[in-house]
Amino acid sequence: MIAGNWKMNHGAADAADFFKKLKGEVSTTPKNVEVLVCAPFTSLAASVDAAKGIKTIHVGAQNMHFEASGAYTGEVSAEMLKETGCSHVLVGHSERRQYFAETDETVNLKTKKALTEGIVPVVCVGELLEERKADKHFDVVTTQVEAAFKDVSAKDAATIVIAYEPVWAIGTGEVATPEQAQEMHAHIRSVLGKLYDTGVADTIRILYGGSMKPSNAPELLGQKDVDGGLIGGASLKADSFNELIQAAEKASS
Ligand code: 13P
Repeated sequence: MIAGNWKMNHGAADAADFFKKLKGEVSTTPKNVEVLVCAPFTSLAASVDAAKGIKTIHVGAQNMHFEASGAYTGEVSAEMLKETGCSHVLVGHSERRQYFAETDETVNLKTKKALTEGIVPVVCVGELLEERKADKHFDVVTTQVEAAFKDVSAKDAATIVIAYEPVWAIGTGEVATPEQAQEMHAHIRSVLGKLYDTGVADTIRILYGGSMKPSNAPELLGQKDVDGGLIGGASLKADSFNELIQAAEKASS
């Protein structure tokens, strides 16, 4: 899976323009790669509309509330997301954890709510630089994964997508080495194997995120446990996003 996270970029008009360009770029529909674009709330409906005609493209949101409705000023529910036609939602992105007080507990509530509503959660985990320096990265990510999957059935768990995004690699140009990514992805899979079983652990897709771009994607996507990418900066332009889709298609064949 190649997933773009536009963050706070691309309003509705820009979104429509992006998909128009992407349709022009993608000469052959990817066979083995699922493509996801996570757009800002106000661009979701326009994105769903503009993405029609590209079979394997999904549109997702970047956040949601875990309640169905109520006095939560400024928030958007899973039910509202469904109405826009989007199918996925990012949960627990490090920027939400850092700037908007997202906790392991709210990540779990949102994950369960998305599953109940039939929206695929893309659960984001990853350690801070100081945690890696202190050699705590495996423990930090273990805790995040265990918390996110708390009280989630094996059947539901198998549908979840995980994104491992080391915070020190996000928007910094500093990318995890393929070995660092592979090591953490294998670790996450072993945590999932213990929570469920190896069948479920092998089914769950684990994406890498953090300064992924066309030049470093082939090596990262070539790792055994790297099932795709969650891309910020390089997902904003249709041409570089398409290059990433093509790199994933190549890696999967
Ligand atoms: P960059 O690709 O810009 O480093 O962002 C990664 C990210 O946060 C995707 O969710």
